[in-house]
Amino acid sequence: MRLPAVMLRRLEIGAFGGPEQIRLVEEARLPQPGEGEVRIRVEASSLVFTDMLIRRNLYPVLKLRLPLTPGYDFVGRIEALGSGVSRWRVGDRVADLTQIGGNATHLVRTAASLVAVPQGVNAIQAEPLILSYMTAWQALFREAKAQPGDQVLIYGASGAVGLAALDLCRAFGLPAVGVASARREPVVEGLGATFVAYDTADPAGPLDRLTRDLGGFKVILDAARGETLSSVMARLAPGGRLVALGFSAPFRTAYKAGGEQPGLLARLRFGYDFLRIKWLSHRPNAAVSFYDIASCRRQHPQWFQEDLSSLFNLLEAGRITPRIQRVFGLGDAVEAHRLIEAGQVEGRLVLAPGLPIGGDPYVSPGDNAAKTTLHQQRHPG
Ligand SMILES: NC(=O)c1ccc[n+]([C@@H]2O[C@H](COP(=O)([O-])OP(=O)(O)OC[C@H]3O[C@@H](n4cnc5c(N)ncnc54)[C@H](OP(=O)(O)O)[C@@H]3O)[C@@H](O)[C@H]2O)c1
Repeated sequence: MRLPAVMLRRLEIGAFGGPEQIRLVEEARLPQPGEGEVRIRVEASSLVFTDMLIRRNLYPVLKLRLPLTPGYDFVGRIEALGSGVSRWRVGDRVADLTQIGGNATHLVRTAASLVAVPQGVNAIQAEPLILSYMTAWQALFREAKAQPGDQVLIYGASGAVGLAALDLCRAFGLPAVGVASARREPVVEGLGATFVAYDTADPAGPLDRLTRDLGGFKVILDAARGETLSSVMARLAPGGRLVALGFSAPFRTAYKAGGEQPGLLARLRFGYDFLRIKWLSHRPNAAVSFYDIASCRRQHPQWFQEDLSSLFNLLEAGRITPRIQRVFGLGDAVEAHRLIEAGQVEGRLVLAPGLPIGGDPYVSPGDNAAKTTLHQQRHPG
């Protein structure tokens, strides 16, 4: 009996633009690891807002060349070792931040950059820790140096990074206020945070009251850029830190108005704010900084290794619980990108490249958490 040949399957973007630019590519040959490299079979990879920015060529911190395979991170198992690799064995479970390239069944990475994933954790649950939780963790604890009891304000609280931040605040005793659209109240309050809606007639009123009552916020994470920079900074407590890390609000506004991306004015405003934050962050005792996961990793590679290992340990110990909305196969990635653009995601979508194209979802034997997730997807309620 002949076994079916193993193919490399990956997503490819041939031209920058909407979700329709994503296509599935199949190649008969698997990539071979060179010296110091390993080949990995990917179990889970990202489907997030940042992948959408890359698809539209709106990601300012990365010079992109087409065609490209999206996928900001991955969790997978090593299946082939290149020469000179002694730290890893075939079958080891590993994770890495790729920025692009993760949305594939197989990939080759430098062995030295990988982080070990405990055998006991589920790949679908572990994947959100690499980009979404790591961003929240480093913004809270490395940039803002949050201490137990510090009052935290999170703009973009129902998104991938926002829910991760709320989950970490809950786990580490940081009282939090989360800002998102009114329909997200249950999920934000479910994580123990005070909820404020940005899409009411007077969105600033409740936040002004909370700022006054609490004496300001010691830590503010802004993943949305919905309020002006000056308004956000006015919500800081004395000695507090604002960490700007994203700009989802102009996209929501554009989408609601029937557009696909922010207009020129919104982009100019973001560019101006970005330069102002950069300028302010270089002043002595700066109260504001811009966090970017990739530059932080370049500057502090050891932090990346340590922080991701800490997050995997928290997951294994049951102290954090990533919220997975849905798991997609490679054949359904266009639908996932449409949901992200439309703001229809509450938490995380995850790509499982091993799911058969057009067939029933496949879950590796013993992967009970993934089986439960898929069962809930098929039988909601
Ligand atoms: N700096 C880094 O290293 C880094 C790392 C990861 C992500 N990011 C960036 O961070 C941002 C968020 O990423 P994500 O993956 O969490 O996106 P996401 O899942 O799409 O979440 C976006 C969040 O923003 C909220 N939002 C939209 N408009 C808002 C407004 N006017 N005021 C307050 N909240 C508003 C959304 O609420 P509703 O859904 O209720 O509208 C949602 O909670 C993106 O710009 C992303 O590129 C940066």
